[in-house]
Amino acid sequence: MVRLFSLAALSLTLLQSLVTASPFPCLNGHCSYTRANLTPEIVARELGPQLSRNSSIFGPDDARWVEATTRYQEYNRPHISMVVEPAREDDIPKIVKYANKNSLDFLTVNRGHSLSGFNGNFSGIQISMDLLRDITINKGGKTAWFQGGTYDQQVIDELFEQGYVATTGSCSCVGMMGPGLGGGHGRYQGRYGLISDNLVTLHVVLADGTAITVSEKSHPDLLWAMKGAGHNFGIVTSFELNIYPRLVDTWYYRNYVWTQDKLETVFEEINRFHNNGTEPVDMAYEVGVYTMNYSVSSTEAVIWWSFAYSGSQEDAQKYLTPFDNIEAVSVEDGNVPYPEIPGRTGSGLDDFVCSPGYDHMVAQVGTFTWNVTTQRQVYDLFNQKIQEQPAMNRSSVTMEGYSTEGVRAVDARTSGFPWRDAYNHLGFITIAYPPDASLDEFALEWRVQHRDLWNQGQPGRLPTTYVNYAWGDEPIESVYGYEPWRLEKLRSLKAKYDPHGRFNHYNPITRG
Ligand SMILES: Cc1cc2nc3c(=O)[nH]c(=O)nc-3n(C[C@H](O)[C@H](O)[C@H](O)COP(=O)(O)OP(=O)(O)OC[C@H]3O[C@@H](n4cnc5c(N)ncnc54)[C@H](O)[C@@H]3O)c2cc1C
Ligand SMILES: *[C@@H]1O[C@H](CO)[C@@H](O)[C@H](O)[C@H]1NC(C)=O
Ligand SMILES: *[C@@H]1O[C@H](CO)[C@@H](O)[C@H](O)[C@H]1NC(C)=O
Ligand SMILES: *[C@@H]1O[C@H](CO)[C@@H](O)[C@H](O)[C@H]1NC(C)=O
Ligand SMILES: *[C@@H]1O[C@H](CO)[C@@H](O)[C@H](O)[C@H]1NC(C)=O
Ligand SMILES: *[C@@H]1O[C@H](CO)[C@@H](O)[C@H](O)[C@H]1NC(C)=O
Ligand SMILES: *[C@@H]1O[C@H](CO)[C@@H](O)[C@H](O)[C@H]1NC(C)=O
Repeated sequence: MVRLFSLAALSLTLLQSLVTASPFPCLNGHCSYTRANLTPEIVARELGPQLSRNSSIFGPDDARWVEATTRYQEYNRPHISMVVEPAREDDIPKIVKYANKNSLDFLTVNRGHSLSGFNGNFSGIQISMDLLRDITINKGGKTAWFQGGTYDQQVIDELFEQGYVATTGSCSCVGMMGPGLGGGHGRYQGRYGLISDNLVTLHVVLADGTAITVSEKSHPDLLWAMKGAGHNFGIVTSFELNIYPRLVDTWYYRNYVWTQDKLETVFEEINRFHNNGTEPVDMAYEVGVYTMNYSVSSTEAVIWWSFAYSGSQEDAQKYLTPFDNIEAVSVEDGNVPYPEIPGRTGSGLDDFVCSPGYDHMVAQVGTFTWNVTTQRQVYDLFNQKIQEQPAMNRSSVTMEGYSTEGVRAVDARTSGFPWRDAYNHLGFITIAYPPDASLDEFALEWRVQHRDLWNQGQPGRLPTTYVNYAWGDEPIESVYGYEPWRLEKLRSLKAKYDPHGRFNHYNPITRG
């Protein structure tokens, strides 16, 4: 908004300095002047008294700043001038109205794993969701209310303890709504669908600061849009999500480390295992990674692969035998309660995948089957690049395979998520290194070379982009759907609910 009104703002700030005693009237609650140099202290003085007691407003001088603004993605960081931490949901409308009155942009931040390049265009207030972490199971145990700052491992732990599970992302560290507003892939999707498929009710603060309830009965058009393109429309202060009885006490996992000479065999077996999306529901998630493991080799990346089965080792064994037959450098396994599965399979809070503070250049692909030739090509490119640039030795190429039954069971027209039948696997490269601008060009070039190989491996197939892994340079149709009606519908809802584009900092549907 500041950008859009910059011309008007120039002349109006002049005017304003003459009439500071009588502020301009705000049309639609959004003023067309900017109060330049609004410091965290001034905001704390003006907005602070309106907020509930445990809320905070602070700037870079505060001891809490570093932790509050730590992000997974260091490259292209948003420009945060101050942090506001609401302690109650009803603080959020007040924050948004205040921001609008003062032409301040605001960005909702929960666990800070956004990969979207559009975050980097942002300047303004960070609204931190950290204090909004309550979970309340509803009577009957069919649904629960989650506040907007809840995150995966927290949700998994708290529900499991009370005998329930829910759809979440797979990684412990990410928020519920970051993934959930764009679909949300996770270990329970084969059984229960995406996170977004399980949303029943949302409490949403719109761009003008109005708090509304979004459900099948109230603003159903917005519910449709927020199940897939939700980051574009509002701040979710809390949401009601389906929960399910915890059916099994333990999951079985097995992790293999293979050397590169097994690559072709591994992908042939993975393709057979998935059989184009018909893998068993309980074989919930398998994920492979190309990564340096210096205890195995300093010149050749290993192929690490992890399988997670909802049930016993005995039941899982028949699916894993073909992989046991591929000679591995090491194999580890275990039967553990569900909350331990992320930590045992490379996606826990203590794993590198959840470490903040690195630059991460990302590109992705969706596939029905892995093109074995392509997988060899991207492997060779990976090795070559790490040898050229050892500072990037924490980089990885990740190949995910989820069971898909629960996702396919939902009628694609009923929500904004466009890719139900479009892929069985998601692949992404994460080129990671401690922030160093002199390396960016190298990494960005690698990213594109890698993506080109993946796309060339599927001639004739239009690329699909999972919105939550999007970088920002993908064709918009590849993010929100190729059927023209989808973008038309989303854009007309955008014009209705966020006409001034206040929620345009995470893969906006309005860009060309
Ligand atoms: C290490 C890692 C693991 C991942 N694992 C998975 C996974 O298992 N499954 C999966 O589907 N995706 C996964 N992703 C992608 C993930 O969905 C996105 O990165 C997501 O945006 C992260 O949410 P966050 O809360 O951590 O990040 P944030 O940067 O805090 O949030 C991302 C964006 O979501 C919006 N947002 C967040 N909370 C709210 C809210 N309460 N109301 C309104 N808008 C909100 C804002 O637009 C914000 O810019 C992963 C990403 C990373 C980096
Ligand atoms: C503030 O936080 C404290 C400690 O977490 C809590 O006991 C108290 O109830 C909170 N007060 C309000 C008004 O939310
Ligand atoms: C915002 O970020 C995206 C992605 O990084 C970029 O393509 C775009 O040019 C930027 N600027 C604006 C005004 O959106
Ligand atoms: C590296 O390889 C060794 C030997 O196979 C294995 O024990 C270890 O778990 C691997 N490390 C990682 C992080 O995968
Ligand atoms: C791996 O990269 C780090 C910096 O990211 C560097 O300090 C280290 O020396 C590298 N290790 C090797 C074996 O190249
Ligand atoms: C794989 O499944 C998709 C739909 O899920 C279908 O469009 C495609 O034709 C299938 N491919 C093969 C080789 O069966
Ligand atoms: C696999 O990738 C190669 C190399 O890009 C390509 O020539 C081939 O057509 C692809 N195979 C299939 C089945 O798409």
